[in-house]
Amino acid sequence: GLKKKEVHVLCLGLDNSGKTTIINKLKPSNAQTQDIVPTIGFSIEKFKTSSLSFTVFDMSGQGKYRDLWEHYYKEGQAIIFVIDSSDKLRMVVAKEELDTLLNHPDIKHRRLPILFFANKMDLRDAVSSVKVSQLLSLENIKDKPWHICASDALKGEGLQEGVDWLQDQIT
Ligand code: GTP
Ligand code: MG
Repeated sequence: GLKKKEVHVLCLGLDNSGKTTIINKLKPSNAQTQDIVPTIGFSIEKFKTSSLSFTVFDMSGQGKYRDLWEHYYKEGQAIIFVIDSSDKLRMVVAKEELDTLLNHPDIKHRRLPILFFANKMDLRDAVSSVKVSQLLSLENIKDKPWHICASDALKGEGLQEGVDWLQDQIT
């Protein structure tokens, strides 16, 4: 049959933002796991869309593992960056990590599409995706296509819109 184009995606963001939950929800239901635990190091996951076959490097967001991220930057053809929209205290840490990422030599001059998920929209304390994009100064990203989606990874809401955008950027 027709072989789908393969794309390597880096899934980044602070610990507890919901990266693994999002990637799990993008798999077919029979491949989803029920118990999601904090990622140790990273995990390689796969899911397909109508025209693409994604290989995801689901990185741990814990401080002690964040130094691992940069070793995979060269491999990545797109980035999914996840934010816990309810974690106002650590929004500044998320911004620091994003800025470090954007200034990295393996990322800086490449036109990599970046999909942001303003996740945990179901929580009472969550700020809007517009607010998240302001807090992270996303309007300053001029040399890469980017898009932000509000999401609730527990219900799977907002994920398809994001992945459709990503697919359009790549195909
Ligand atoms: P690390 O692997 O440690 O970097 O974390 P992670 O970003 O992969 O987060 P993970 O997917 O493990 O989710 C962390 C916790 O947040 C889990 O208890 C999830 O059930 C919960 N969670 C994920 N997405 C949502 C969401 O949209 N809403 C709510 N309420 N909880 C969520
Ligand atoms: Mg994880």
